Amino acid sequence: MNEEDAENQNEEQESEAPEHEKTVTELNKEKYQFIEDLPGVGPATAAKLKELGYHTVESLAMATARELEPVGVSDKKAFQIIDAARSAIGISFIRADELYKMRQNVARLSTGSKALNQILDGGLETQTITEFYGEYGTGKSQICHQLCVNVQLPTDRGGLNGAALYVDTENTFRLERIVQMSKFLGLDPERVVKNIIYAEAYTSDHQMFLLENADEIIKANNIKLIIVDSLTAHFRSEYIGREMLASRQQKLNKHMHKLIGLSRAFNAVAVVTNQVMAKPDQFFGDAIHPIGGNIVGHTSHTRLYLRRASHGPTRIARLVSSPYLPEGEEIFKVTENGIEDISEEEKAEKASKSRR
Ligand SMILES: Nc1ncnc2c1ncn2[C@@H]1O[C@H](COP(=O)(O)OP(=O)(O)OP(=O)(O)O)[C@@H](O)[C@H]1O
Ligand SMILES: [Mg+2]
Repeated sequence: MNEEDAENQNEEQESEAPEHEKTVTELNKEKYQFIEDLPGVGPATAAKLKELGYHTVESLAMATARELEPVGVSDKKAFQIIDAARSAIGISFIRADELYKMRQNVARLSTGSKALNQILDGGLETQTITEFYGEYGTGKSQICHQLCVNVQLPTDRGGLNGAALYVDTENTFRLERIVQMSKFLGLDPERVVKNIIYAEAYTSDHQMFLLENADEIIKANNIKLIIVDSLTAHFRSEYIGREMLASRQQKLNKHMHKLIGLSRAFNAVAVVTNQVMAKPDQFFGDAIHPIGGNIVGHTSHTRLYLRRASHGPTRIARLVSSPYLPEGEEIFKVTENGIEDISEEEKAEKASKSRR
């Protein structure tokens, strides 16, 4: 070893924290970059894992042993593989102060409306699912389009410096809208559209397949926003009647958990949209309900209900549930520019109209 190498080595050693000061995560962290590097994963197992949609250590870290059953390895081995993947990305046992640190990694994505951001305590969170539900034309897909543009902004403008993945089930994604919104924000539309990875899902199975195989694309493209618009439309039209309800819910549950896993593994924002149905036989409470029942309700961390104001571009957003924020309601508008705030003048005008 020449002098320079020795010096470098010395420097490296010096900059490393002494053993007792290292966090549990650092101690656990082994360098496994590819799934083939994990102990117990030979070429045949790796091939089967990839068939199942586990192409990256990150997504494997979020798997359960049951999900690995089709690989054909013993439960014990499945646990070992998942454990190794977890330690590689530093999510095995962690101390509470580290949990706090993980929580600090949560970043926020702006909706484009200050009012809407405010009821969300700053914007949409990474590592969790945000659901927008409401009747047709209430702006669910418009918000999704806007988020695809905003995510590309730098953090000081409410973005995450990342790309977007758009799973479109109803063929309502429109590039023209992306172009309009980008121009309004002073972004180069050509660059913006290059950072949106689009996939149309033709059936509910196809929709599930797309997410199950998305990990590599997410990693390679620095995707920080994953959208499923709409989460429930295919499921609703394919699984009809009471006898199919249980299997529909089971599939939706699996799909949502895959989405949570991806959002955590890649510190990304996950957004789903959902339609509503009216329950005419209900005497009390709100007769409008989001589709998907408890499964969707419990797996969406943050739920927003969108509705129209009497007419015009104004929309009302209500934060219906959040793990830690109070219920709240705000208005915004959908215009050619995208999602915008209602100006003070517009508010005053509306108020005077309603007094008349
Ligand atoms: N270029 C535009 N300029 C102004 N407003 C627009 C423009 N494009 C769409 N909108 C508004 O957005 C509405 C459509 O909203 P959006 O597509 O988000 O509905 P949605 O909630 O996704 O409905 P669905 O349940 O049918 O999917 C239109 O009715 C219109 O009010
Ligand atoms: Mg829509």
